[in-house]
Amino acid sequence: MEKIVILTGAGISAESGLSTFRDEGGLWAQHRIEDVATPEGFARDPALVHGFYNARRAHAAQAKPNAAHSALARLQRDWPGDVIIVTQNVDSLHEAGGAEDVIHMHGSLAGALCAACGHRWAAPPEMAVGEPCPACHAPAARPDVVWFGEMPYQMDVIYDHLANARIFASIGTSGQVYPAAAFVHEAIAGGARTVELNLEPSAGSSSFDETILGPATETVPRWVNKLLGQR
Ligand code: OAD
Repeated sequence: MEKIVILTGAGISAESGLSTFRDEGGLWAQHRIEDVATPEGFARDPALVHGFYNARRAHAAQAKPNAAHSALARLQRDWPGDVIIVTQNVDSLHEAGGAEDVIHMHGSLAGALCAACGHRWAAPPEMAVGEPCPACHAPAARPDVVWFGEMPYQMDVIYDHLANARIFASIGTSGQVYPAAAFVHEAIAGGARTVELNLEPSAGSSSFDETILGPATETVPRWVNKLLGQR
């Protein structure tokens, strides 16, 4: 069966009101990556880091999935083969839009992780410094998000899917963060046709067979309709 692998980034949630990272006024214009998205930053100032993710968690909780999220869920339901959604996003808008088995390679705001023993549990709306782990009781709770310098989640599973993809699509990501930025090359090596859907050409745009420019709420439903119409 024809497998479709889809990589999404912050651009797919932009029209749901969530900030991207590298667009003008984006999160990385307001915060230093070293301060809020590295293990060293967390060790230095855990209150600052919890504050950053508490604010993002509160914001994400208010956000509604948009037409692009729903279109991908529809593709998953109606495509006769597997449709694997891999997201770099830590929001849960794919799931809220009806998608299943989403691979959160950069973790999720919905999760808490014990930095001492690796236990995971559902994050409360507000995490606080020194919160004890429910399993080992160490005061080491952190958001279950992947920081710079850490290994993204489920890479073996993702590479397996990429090697078997017939179609690879990259949606709403600037292509500046590895390893996700290199997924297109893995997919090409496996023989996939590749397409990028983004507001503007990404850093790796020339690697794709096709680039579709425009806001995700317009381009993604149109692309899904085309795929479902042609089978
Ligand atoms: P970026 O902020 O780097 O890129 C977002 C992309 O989405 C840009 O190329 C925009 O042009 C595009 N975009 C913006 N609005 C859009 C819209 N309405 N429709 C379609 N595209 C739109 O975000 P990511 O590529 O997701 O990692 O960033 C990757 C990783 O870098 C994140 O997961 C995060 C960040 O640092 C960590 O924190 C580990």
